[in-house]
Amino acid sequence: MSERRKLRSTAWFGGEGKNAFMHRSWMKNQGIPDDAFDGRPVIGICNTWSELTPCNAHLRALADHVKRGVYEAGGLPVEFPVTSLGESNMRPTAMLFRNLASMDVEESIRGNPIDGVVLMVGCDKTTPSLLMGAASCNLPTIAVSGGPMLNGKFRGQDIGSGTHVWKFAEDVKAGRMKVEDFLAAEQGQSRSAGSCMTMGTASTMASMVEALGIGMPDNAAIPAVDSRRGVLAQLAGRQIVDLVLRDVTMSQILTRQAFENAIRVNGAIGGSTNAVLHLIAIARRVGVDLSLDDWDRLGRDVPTIVDLMPSGRFLMEDFYYAGGLAAVMASLDGAGFLHRDAMTVSGKTIGELVDGAPNYNPEVIRPLDRPLTREGGISVLRGNLAPDGAVIKPSAATPALMQHRGRAVVFENIEHYYARVDDPELDIDASSVMVLKNCGPRGYPGMAEVGNMPLPAKLLKQGVSDMVRISDARMSGTAYGTVVLHVAPEAAAGGALALVRDGDLIDLDVAGRRLELLVSEEELAARRRDWRPPAPPEGGYQSLYVERVLQADQGCDFDFLVGRRDAGIPRHSH
Ligand code: FES
Repeated sequence: MSERRKLRSTAWFGGEGKNAFMHRSWMKNQGIPDDAFDGRPVIGICNTWSELTPCNAHLRALADHVKRGVYEAGGLPVEFPVTSLGESNMRPTAMLFRNLASMDVEESIRGNPIDGVVLMVGCDKTTPSLLMGAASCNLPTIAVSGGPMLNGKFRGQDIGSGTHVWKFAEDVKAGRMKVEDFLAAEQGQSRSAGSCMTMGTASTMASMVEALGIGMPDNAAIPAVDSRRGVLAQLAGRQIVDLVLRDVTMSQILTRQAFENAIRVNGAIGGSTNAVLHLIAIARRVGVDLSLDDWDRLGRDVPTIVDLMPSGRFLMEDFYYAGGLAAVMASLDGAGFLHRDAMTVSGKTIGELVDGAPNYNPEVIRPLDRPLTREGGISVLRGNLAPDGAVIKPSAATPALMQHRGRAVVFENIEHYYARVDDPELDIDASSVMVLKNCGPRGYPGMAEVGNMPLPAKLLKQGVSDMVRISDARMSGTAYGTVVLHVAPEAAAGGALALVRDGDLIDLDVAGRRLELLVSEEELAARRRDWRPPAPPEGGYQSLYVERVLQADQGCDFDFLVGRRDAGIPRHSH
């Protein structure tokens, strides 16, 4: 060990002075022997385990597998907790705290004797918050996802996390399902450890981890309770030690090529719109200037071939047994969609990893010439209603509504929506365009997942199943519909969305990438003179958030966290 290059942790644990005594002595109260501080790699296991983040509640046990691997490879593992964001519980929305959690992660890594990091992630925001924080430190890093729950089961059918909540709730509202039956589905939906087993945000981000090369092969899909998830974690533990010894840092993996691969994979899996925000934010932390236009340009020709809810029929267990993400990437590679040379934490390139990956079930992972949606990806819309962009996920939308002109029915905020949507007197029909304001990053604050606002009960009862909906909000990755999201600038920042009134005509043209409010410039200028920004929050974290958060097209990061900031974190000790 003594001939080895001195690692960062040696600045704490090396030498014979008072400081080294202190750093080692206190650690030894955990029963760590003397030779563990001989200059071997110290691997931080950054854990989002929490019983309030049920999707990550198994991550302490999974971290034990990582530790085995670290020990086997001659490293010293040290597990530490960071802020855990549970999507199902946190109010007002977990997204409000993504940047805060990323700061916790960054400072925990910066301030501690760590040479490399394994990020234990799962539930939606835990993946981007840890990747963002770690990216700002740029140490050797591997992300290990907790894996999806087993398929939901209810009365003989597979039910998907979230997706069936939306569907069943609509059925109850339309009088097609009894409340007792609705409640009986709860336990069947969530019957094992793990994250949502639809292709929602958690599964999307686990797929992004694998596609970016910052996770181990098969990271996307192995179920949480499958023993192979433990094997993956153990191999990650071995591998992170190797990355430290070879000094392979995050920015060497998270290159522009890696992000371009990930965007294409997102199109092929029909991934969550939330990935747009998160990938832009992560990329900008490592100095890759990813933009909305990259999303549109790269995703445009990629068909959605993974037939998973919410866009399709199957669930993550099926996806894993069908061959998982490697099979999808092999298809993309065959069509020339991938940068094969992008390096991964496994030590192999993406091309080497996906070569010959088998597809065991072409119903779940369809061939490219029989896709679920020919134009997958995320379409980026612009126009006077969204000068800085808005997004729509075509694979979750109704084809007949992708080109649509309709009368706006406006909800000033989410409370106004709830108060108004089921009013029998509301002047709305299937051709109307539902517009929701003040749910963006600053307006909510935190950018609520309410963009897929449920349709009015009276229209559901008539059999209407989809309508055009437009907002500055986000949408749960488990949801579906012809839903235009992330309008930028948002209403609370004075975007044109703030000026829309009931009865205005709106033009949506997804093929032409247009979103227009058909109101004259003079009239809009007059309305703007009457517009007043919402009152800012009274102190606390929310006021910092509202003051410093960037708009959706820039990934909703804090302005002061963007860009490479790892210069003050030397990886070697002299
Ligand atoms: Fe945690 Fe869906 S609520 S992954």
